[in-house]
Amino acid sequence: MSERALSSRRAPPSSPRSPKDDEADGGGGGTPFAETDGDGSKTRNRGSFGARISRLFSCRMRPRGRCCLSFTLLVIFFVALFYLPGIRRDECEGPYHFLARMGVFGGSMDGIVSDFGILGVPWCRSKHGKTVEWGPKDLLKGLEDFVPIYETRPIKNNMYGMGFDHSFGLWFMARWLKPVLMVESGAFKGHSTWVLRQAMPETPIISLSPRHPEKYLKKGPAYVDGNCTYFAGKDFIDFGRINWGKVLEKHGVLDVSQVLVFFDDHQNQLKRVNQALKVGFQHLIFEDNYDTGTGDHYSLRQICDQFYIRGGGHSCFRDGDEARIRKRRRKMWEKAVDIEELCGNREHWWGVRGEMCDDFNHSNKAISYVEHFKNSRFVESLLDAYWELPPVAGPSLTHQTRYDPARTSSPIVEDGQYSLFKRLGLTGLDASVFNGYTQMVYVKISAPNS
Ligand SMILES: C[S@@+](CC[C@H](N)C(=O)[O-])C[C@H]1O[C@@H](n2cnc3c(N)ncnc32)[C@H](O)[C@@H]1O
Repeated sequence: MSERALSSRRAPPSSPRSPKDDEADGGGGGTPFAETDGDGSKTRNRGSFGARISRLFSCRMRPRGRCCLSFTLLVIFFVALFYLPGIRRDECEGPYHFLARMGVFGGSMDGIVSDFGILGVPWCRSKHGKTVEWGPKDLLKGLEDFVPIYETRPIKNNMYGMGFDHSFGLWFMARWLKPVLMVESGAFKGHSTWVLRQAMPETPIISLSPRHPEKYLKKGPAYVDGNCTYFAGKDFIDFGRINWGKVLEKHGVLDVSQVLVFFDDHQNQLKRVNQALKVGFQHLIFEDNYDTGTGDHYSLRQICDQFYIRGGGHSCFRDGDEARIRKRRRKMWEKAVDIEELCGNREHWWGVRGEMCDDFNHSNKAISYVEHFKNSRFVESLLDAYWELPPVAGPSLTHQTRYDPARTSSPIVEDGQYSLFKRLGLTGLDASVFNGYTQMVYVKISAPNS
């Protein structure tokens, strides 16, 4: 079976499922990663793709005609591989090679096309079950408008900053929400400031960053905005220490709920949510919404990764289904984590191996599972909406090799929609700009019980 249908609830760590448990319930009912079909029955065993290929081309014991046919198919297969749109043969690919992701050498086809969300995609529940107003059609239309804008970006190489997916997400949401003021925490060379400016040409920006983007101008491209108040360089003040009453008054902001705050500063997101809540900010976007076991700060996605959420909670059982699937995926995707990395020595899987990370990993704190659980309940009590930006396109189109589709929702342009990908102008972008996706998230918050 494809692993898609298998990611539902997991048993809590206090009661790991043993193989015996699996036997008792037939294997499909309780264990989320059992290889069953959607209806729970164990059926298909398609064998690995590699095995099927080798069966096809095995000439011994076959009549001559079939052998020739097999040989012809072999030639067609490799010619097709050579000419498939977008397979860049001029690039040097690392261990996360296209063929490896397809699983040609002993894996299965699951690796490339239909694996979005198969390990589950944790999400945060909102207070009233509300979601965002925009939908897939709006995102597609947005992409159409954004690609030519992105092509004019001043900072072409934004390594360590945002790539295409998140630039699009930030631009799309800022344009949709139409804030009266935009606040940015974490500017680096100024690419995200530029993106905000493209979305809202007249709206003032406040940018907080320890190093002023103008400093980067000495070395190469950077962006400094004319209608932006910088708390940067020697004027830097952390978001949590700004006198927001005074600053908002100075900007003539009467309604704090009309302000959009964008965080790309690698700080504990629980801390940032609390600080934003105190001021009354409601619309927040977090750039790096890291998956459990990854990243350098405690993220909303990590916080909401709980057993009661589909794809949430984890089994540290080394011989379990999750371990087996993760091990395989670790070989295919740079940012995938296997069970050893996820759980560490102490079987603490939450946050990053039981730690609540902060400030680019400079100040990490071990937390208990109970504390982690409380954090999620608290965050849920604030949320009016939680929306993760999907990746813009599937990996067979973008050639991204880093994030594992198994932990993300389906992309806006799905694998196989090459003509749409091309029509949107996405074929003209360098593959490296698609490598930075980390589940950017928009949240709307308000005080608990409101
Ligand atoms: C990943 S970069 C930001 C990338 C940028 N948004 C872009 O799109 O290119 C993170 C930035 O956060 C800054 N930073 C570090 N600590 C910070 C803090 N406490 N508040 C705001 N920014 C911080 C770093 O100096 C760095 O410029």
